Amino acid sequence: MSEYKPKLVCFSCKFGWGYLTDEAALSSKIENWIPIICTGKIDAAHVINAFEEGADGILILGCPEGDCHYQDGNYEAKKRVYILHRLLEPMGIEKERIKLELSIDPEGRRIPQLVKEMSKELVKLGPCRKAKAAEKMPREVVKARGGE
Ligand code: FES
Repeated sequence: MSEYKPKLVCFSCKFGWGYLTDEAALSSKIENWIPIICTGKIDAAHVINAFEEGADGILILGCPEGDCHYQDGNYEAKKRVYILHRLLEPMGIEKERIKLELSIDPEGRRIPQLVKEMSKELVKLGPCRKAKAAEKMPREVVKARGGE
């Protein structure tokens, strides 16, 4: 019997979390690590699309509160994550599948550990019921948030 391996997408702000080298990403088995310019740039559509494309969980790493390079990007991200939790949970996507960590680690050393911890939690939850969520997602919501 093969072991379930969750698909985790990790967005990390390059200002607070630096860059993982390819080698570090490979050795930590992080397959879907996406450096971004600020967590405020992550739209609800990005998260929803990731679930539609097969993600089991989303980890967003941003700068500490009060320390966003673009002033309030991390607050915006916090609000979006809150809304996504409320929007997606009734569709079968548990709130534990979307995590936001506002902290700092300029060399990105904690990224592999955080990915590992969240992956363990995702294993407990099992595969995401994304197909169901994608069917129920009101298109207006995705469009309003800058999606297709
Ligand atoms: Fe890092 Fe905005 S610059 S979260």
